[in-house]
Amino acid sequence: ANPSLLILAGDGIGPEVMAEVRRVIDWFGANKDLTFDVSEDLVGGAAYDNHGTPLHDDTMAKAQKVDAVLLGAVGGPKYDDLDFSVKPERGLLRLRKEMDLFSNLRPAQCFDALADFSSLKKDIVSGLDIMIVRELTSGVYFGEPRGIHREGNERVGINTQRYTESEIARVARSAFELARKRSNKVCSMEKANVMESGILWRDVVQEIHDAEYPDVELSHMYADNGAMQLVRAPKQFDVIVTDNLFGDVLSDCAAMLTGSLGMLPSASLGLPMANGRPKAMYEPVHGSAPDITGQGKANPIACILSFAMALRYSFDEGAHADLLEGAVERVLADGARTADLMGPDGGTPISTTEMGDAILA
Ligand code: NAI
Ligand code: MG
Repeated sequence: ANPSLLILAGDGIGPEVMAEVRRVIDWFGANKDLTFDVSEDLVGGAAYDNHGTPLHDDTMAKAQKVDAVLLGAVGGPKYDDLDFSVKPERGLLRLRKEMDLFSNLRPAQCFDALADFSSLKKDIVSGLDIMIVRELTSGVYFGEPRGIHREGNERVGINTQRYTESEIARVARSAFELARKRSNKVCSMEKANVMESGILWRDVVQEIHDAEYPDVELSHMYADNGAMQLVRAPKQFDVIVTDNLFGDVLSDCAAMLTGSLGMLPSASLGLPMANGRPKAMYEPVHGSAPDITGQGKANPIACILSFAMALRYSFDEGAHADLLEGAVERVLADGARTADLMGPDGGTPISTTEMGDAILA
């Protein structure tokens, strides 16, 4: 049977950028004998408009069955005043939660042609290709006890950083598996010098390494030093694995090494399914961009690179992922620019579809 994909294009520019991904998928079917069974459904505001809920139970059930979900973006001003329980982003949160997508992958990859967009000097980021693996479903954002209490005559705000061994072990495995598909190197970041959860994190990552992934090169680093190293010499890293809080901060920091929001893909992975593939959802980092919706201005590259991640991490099609990423690199080197990749006096930008055309060509 062909591998299966569920496309949830969502709202705003979601459908516009996803249309270009559809063309890429069709291209692989026509030219590379790589055919997917593609189904489409609604999420976010689009689902609310049709079903009164941002994610229908049938859609949730489909997402659980397919090999990978591709998501565009959700949300928009039309839905801003809705009750929280039916807000578009609740659709996204439900997918992540019920699929138990605990491993969030945020690559920071610098295309030479865009190195001037980086916040850093060109030689520091040129050729950069790192992957931050952030634990997404536990840690201080979820730990109990939490709350704001009164103690004597003042208030105290409490959150609890809590990780179980199994939560650390599964995200560590996810990072080691990825490393084997890349440059076989993992750096684990925590604060074992001041946090108990950091000591456990370091121990468990080391144990999983020694028992199951001795072939992968593993190092450990304190997360504050990691932040410094990310902007000093980011090319020393391949895969970075870290907890929810540090990963939130470090991945946003790494994103700015490379430039535009319109370029950034992501993946969220869960446990392996019966066929060995992880539960997976791939999506651009950007939102629905209501300010440019319907104008043909959206950059489809973040969404196209998210599909490239699906090829590599769900379908073991590394060579085809390379081909697609290479095509993106090539059109950028040739000067193709959507509006978001241009300075104020950059000339005439090309449209969403024209960027798709260029990549297909
Ligand atoms: P946004 O990412 O939609 O847009 C921020 C800025 O970047 C805008 O100026 C936009 O035009 C630009 N931009 C974003 N993607 C682009 C692309 N592919 N090509 C060219 N320019 C692009 O974030 P914002 O404006 O804060 O949120 C808009 C809506 O999207 C809100 O309803 C928000 O809740 C939702 N959102 C959804 C996310 C998701 O579906 N994962 C993530 C972030 C926001
Ligand atoms: Mg963040």
